[in-house]
Amino acid sequence: MATDETTSNKPQTVPESSISSVLSEKRKFPPPAEFAKNAHVASMADYERLYAEADADPDTYWGGLAEQFHWFKKWESVLEWNSPYAKWFQGGKTNICYNALDVHVNSWRKNKAAIIWEGEEGDQRVLTYGELHRQVCKFANVLKIAGIRPGDRVAIYMGMVPELIIAVLACARVGAVHNVIFAGFSAHAISERVNDSRAKMIICADGSRRRGSSINLKNIVDEAIVNTPSVRSVMVLKLTGDTVHMHDGMDHWWHDLMGLASDECDPVEVDSEHPLFVLYTSGSTGKPKGILHTTAGYMVHAASSFKYVFDIKDEDIYFCTADVGWITGHTYMAYGPLLNGATILMYEGAPNYPQWDRFWDIINRHKVTILYTAPTAIRAFIRAGNEWVTKHNLNSLRLLGSVGEPINPDVWMWYHKVVGQERCPIVDTWWQTETGGIMVSPLPGATPTKPGTATRPLPGIAVDVVHKDGTPCEANEGGYLVIKKPWPSMLRTIYGDNERYEKTYWSEFPGMYFTGDGARKDDDGYIWIMGRVDDVVNVSGHRLGTSEVESALVSYEAVAEAAVVSRPDEIKGNALVAFVTLKDEYVGDMKLREALRNHVAKEIGPIAKPDEIRWAKGLPKTRSGKIMRRLLRELATSNEIKGDVSTLEDFGVLENLRDSEED
Ligand code: WT7
Repeated sequence: MATDETTSNKPQTVPESSISSVLSEKRKFPPPAEFAKNAHVASMADYERLYAEADADPDTYWGGLAEQFHWFKKWESVLEWNSPYAKWFQGGKTNICYNALDVHVNSWRKNKAAIIWEGEEGDQRVLTYGELHRQVCKFANVLKIAGIRPGDRVAIYMGMVPELIIAVLACARVGAVHNVIFAGFSAHAISERVNDSRAKMIICADGSRRRGSSINLKNIVDEAIVNTPSVRSVMVLKLTGDTVHMHDGMDHWWHDLMGLASDECDPVEVDSEHPLFVLYTSGSTGKPKGILHTTAGYMVHAASSFKYVFDIKDEDIYFCTADVGWITGHTYMAYGPLLNGATILMYEGAPNYPQWDRFWDIINRHKVTILYTAPTAIRAFIRAGNEWVTKHNLNSLRLLGSVGEPINPDVWMWYHKVVGQERCPIVDTWWQTETGGIMVSPLPGATPTKPGTATRPLPGIAVDVVHKDGTPCEANEGGYLVIKKPWPSMLRTIYGDNERYEKTYWSEFPGMYFTGDGARKDDDGYIWIMGRVDDVVNVSGHRLGTSEVESALVSYEAVAEAAVVSRPDEIKGNALVAFVTLKDEYVGDMKLREALRNHVAKEIGPIAKPDEIRWAKGLPKTRSGKIMRRLLRELATSNEIKGDVSTLEDFGVLENLRDSEED
């Protein structure tokens, strides 16, 4: 739940009743025959068989997947489960960097492109597996020269450039624990994370390019390290040429040290449970949680889920638009693809730079075959207008993915039609920073999809929807999404805080991991995420998930995006307030407001009719693109915001909203 404002730090409080589900979506899309023909999993029967096998004997299933990696020493047991603490592949020794690089360098893939990088200004670099390996080995030697030892924590703070992946892999190679901090975060956020993990080193760039200008990252690091006694050295990559102050004894240029380092570096043979990385997620209150992932289990699930969900083939060019500062970037930009020997398209900048067609232009020029992005981006593209997409040839695309929030059915349909040209399956992937990898998703050659649902759990993943007392919900009954069995890429703890780990995830439903999400399973066993349980709105005694009401609003032609919250109301107890962003060509007025209210009444029933609709030029979002309903709740209630806004992406949005009175 990196930067997920909708995830609270407290144990989730689960009210008595279950959650009412009001949305019904009937459209269904079988996998295209052409796609299924060559898919790794080619039919629903194959999926069902795999799922049943994994369910009956998880050790054999996960053990079988683990066999496919290089082990310096094989494991003795697949899982030791001392609830809620897991040890996977105990007794084994491996190295994830070795499996992501050396394995391919020792094969025909040596000269295959690992990373095709495009800078915001259009500059390009291609790193083959051989070259990436060389750079990683050199930088691993730099880390060693700088005194980094296995287990030491290293913070990484830089934009989307190949060196970010090089730094991550070099840490893994020497057994250091990386902590990537999104390059949009402040000095305070850096020192908070660095202090919590007691990081010994910070790796940064002089600056990061964004929409034609640059942000001086090194200055921000300078400000942060005034308060971080654990930091011994700062490595600085020269990228933008921003003016920086290099402090003697503390700061070092990346290129100076790389110039001295050998390109041979044996990987450290680490235990399976050796910590791999900490990634901080911010809750609505309190300090961020350092989600700890370890080596072997994470490796096994990152690689296998990537292979099956994205149906990866050697010919693919895979474009993931997430930042490496988030878990999606860790698992499906870096580790998952590299472990599979895939080719990654990495883009440095903003989707609308210089114009709204940047992604489509990239896809056309590089002949991208798989695109993995987020609903927030798709909604922005819809708002900007179809012509930005349709003017490019997207025939190379064969598969589309979505992650981060529930994708509204009508947004799904747009993605399917306008981007996928009704040819590409869509994998709507549900997972969390804590789960390390995808938990619920279609397998694109097997699972018939329905707009708005992540469909079925992957083999080996025991998700369920339960009542407050932990008993399973009936089909179509809304409840709480839990995971009933340990899985290899699960978080191991919150860094340095086992108590908080137990309280946050394992106290609400004894013996089960609580995700914090509301969901329902339909008659086909498909999981429909209804939003965070903390965001549930209460209307006339019914508890509704935000995503259903929002999807009803978004299904109206004029609407680009919507967020729904409830506020106390003297008469009704609770009133439903909808913040609505219109597509560029529409204007919000009384008539449209009434039409929208009626539309919601028609789509899901009068109970969900918003009491108030406020026009919003934009919605407040976290830096990873999630709507911050908590802030909207405050606005709707008191028209002012007192809560923590440190993870908010764009402050201007709040100012605009404060002014957005009813007309
Ligand atoms: C929360 C986790 C997983 C990587 C990015 C976000 C929401 C995520 C979906 C989806 C509906 C989704 C959930 C989840 N979420 N994917 N496909 N459908 N909701 O990671 O920041 O840890 O957030 O994002 O609420 O719990 P994260």
